[in-house]
Amino acid sequence: MAPLFRPRTNALTVVFLVGVLALLVAISVIAYVVYRSPYQTDAGYAPEQPIPFSHQHHVGGLGIDCQYCHTSAETSDFAGIPPTRTCMTCHSQEWTNAEMLAPVRESLSHQEPLAWTRVHKLADYTYFSHRAHVNNGVGCESCHGRVDKMHMTVQRQPLTMEWCLECHRDPGSELRPQDKITSMGYSPEDDAIPGHELIDQYDINLDHLTECSSCHR
Ligand code: HEC
Ligand code: HEC
Ligand code: HEC
Ligand code: HEC
Ligand code: HEC
Repeated sequence: MAPLFRPRTNALTVVFLVGVLALLVAISVIAYVVYRSPYQTDAGYAPEQPIPFSHQHHVGGLGIDCQYCHTSAETSDFAGIPPTRTCMTCHSQEWTNAEMLAPVRESLSHQEPLAWTRVHKLADYTYFSHRAHVNNGVGCESCHGRVDKMHMTVQRQPLTMEWCLECHRDPGSELRPQDKITSMGYSPEDDAIPGHELIDQYDINLDHLTECSSCHR
């Protein structure tokens, strides 16, 4: 009986199939890389603001603590954006006539809040709480990066579900003592208490941290 394909056709078919397979793999790899890239996840997002407020000057330079301006991080789901009068505690004396600060003075005299553009924003179907993290040993730096070095505020982390879960599965190495929550440039080796011991100290219940209902309620 004659073979269905001659040997030469067989070889060509194999080359063709291998080529198609390689192309499919290449397409999936590219799709995956684009899907995971900062472009897709908003990491690196730094929108224009009404005033060039600089964390580098105020935190890195002047040494003002995060909670002086973001007063509700410890007590509520939201860290909060400071009202204009917080700025005026200093700027009624410092740089009072600077052109750059005109919008601050206008906001005060018209009693209208400054229109800051949001940098971080999770989808509405996700529940997030600052209080739950800040009171359980997770520092601002773990999620927002070196804010003390930012001129423009920029989103450093992807804020995807996978990113949240990576820490929720094993938060030990990310934890710090309560007095270091707003510190920048902290490294766990600086402290005598290792992170995994802090899990007990903060009484963190690891079981429910990866349950869907913790973040989607
Ligand atoms: C002097 C007041 C002040 C201090 C101190 C301060 N911030 Fe801010 N922060 C602001 C203002 C005003 C904004 C809104 C403008 C902007 O996004 O740059 C802001 C925005 C932010 C945002 C982005 C909010 C969003 O829209 O998603 C983060 C994150 C943040 N601050 C973290 C910190 C951390 C962490 C510290 C301490 C290391 C800190 N801030 C200290 C005033 C302050
Ligand atoms: C604790 C005092 C203090 C507070 C509170 C404060 N500032 Fe300032 N700010 C300063 C000082 C001091 C300078 C001059 C900084 C320098 O030249 O290093 C400054 C500088 C600035 C500048 C000039 C650009 C720069 O960063 O050097 C802007 C704009 C500004 N502040 C906006 C704000 C806004 C908006 C708020 C409120 C969210 C605010 N500041 C709160 C003390 C303060
Ligand atoms: C576990 C991660 C995590 C930690 C820790 C954390 N943040 Fe956030 N922060 C976020 C996320 C996520 C958002 C966006 C929340 C949303 O869209 O609902 C956010 C939003 C913000 C905002 C915008 C306004 C608001 O309240 O939503 C500010 C300001 C802010 N964070 C400051 C801080 C400061 C200051 C600290 C430390 C005291 C801190 N964050 C600690 C993840 C974190
Ligand atoms: C760096 C580590 C870390 C990251 C990143 C992180 N978390 Fe958490 N999260 C924790 C720890 C630790 C707790 C405290 C657990 C406890 O209360 O026992 C917690 C608690 C929570 C809780 C409260 C759970 C409850 O019912 O008590 C929610 C909701 C939550 N995280 C959502 C998120 C979301 C959404 C993200 C991503 C945008 C995120 N977390 C990113 C470490 C992290
Ligand atoms: C630690 C918090 C956390 C837990 C636990 C969690 N999610 Fe999510 N989930 C998120 C965040 C954050 C997003 C992305 C929100 C955004 O894009 O702003 C998300 C997005 C999603 C989406 C939208 C599609 C996508 O992938 O972006 C689905 C569907 C979803 N989650 C289902 C689940 C299911 C099912 C579980 C349980 C197996 C679960 N989540 C557990 C935080 C969580």
